[in-house]
Amino acid sequence: MTFPDPPNSLQAVPGPLPAGSLAPDRLDLLLETLAQNGYASLPDFLSQDTTAALLGELHTLFQAGKAHAAGIGLGNDYRVLPTVRNDTILWLDPANLPPAQAVYWQALEDLRLRLNHRYFLGLTDYESHFAQYPPGGFYKRHLDVFRGKGRRRISSVFYLNFPWSSVDGGQLRLYLPGDQTETWVDILPLAGSLVVFDSQTIEHEVLPALRPRASLAGWLRSA
Ligand code: OGA
Ligand code: MN
Repeated sequence: MTFPDPPNSLQAVPGPLPAGSLAPDRLDLLLETLAQNGYASLPDFLSQDTTAALLGELHTLFQAGKAHAAGIGLGNDYRVLPTVRNDTILWLDPANLPPAQAVYWQALEDLRLRLNHRYFLGLTDYESHFAQYPPGGFYKRHLDVFRGKGRRRISSVFYLNFPWSSVDGGQLRLYLPGDQTETWVDILPLAGSLVVFDSQTIEHEVLPALRPRASLAGWLRSA
């Protein structure tokens, strides 16, 4: 995906922005970095209280047996393939969001509107699921769009792990295409932090986690 330069008139007169939970400058920096580098991350995207409440909602739902093994592929190609990923997921239902999920959903909705406002991406909607990786859990290198098809444009991952350090593994590794050689960055799945990246160009993987690893993965989509 290419991010067109905003027209000068928009830069000069930004106009009203949708109300957001983040100070505009922090979010602006996130969006600028995303547009420039194809990915960006932000610690403390949501408060520690909301993050802890999200983890609580995850535990309640997963303990009630609502989650299921994650699969790969779309439609007839859909398969559960534990050699590729072995996390357990539960899709959020936007028509029925418990309190912390409602805060999270609204924050991603703000992000969607700001991206449209700034870069004219035409993002129409959002989908998201909880994910939990067991000790030893991983997700092998992949792209979030299925064979170039589908409506996903921007991937997001919001992390729920208090605390987490590099000895726990479970880093998100983003592969960055370069002119000559590929490079990568590793990101710790630390509670409260958000990572966003271009769904169509950034391959990535979840390195084996040594402890249970919880997150909310999501995708901003176009029509
Ligand atoms: C995914 C994914 C990354 C992460 O769910 O598609 O790549 O850090 N997740 O959990
Ligand atoms: Mn992915």
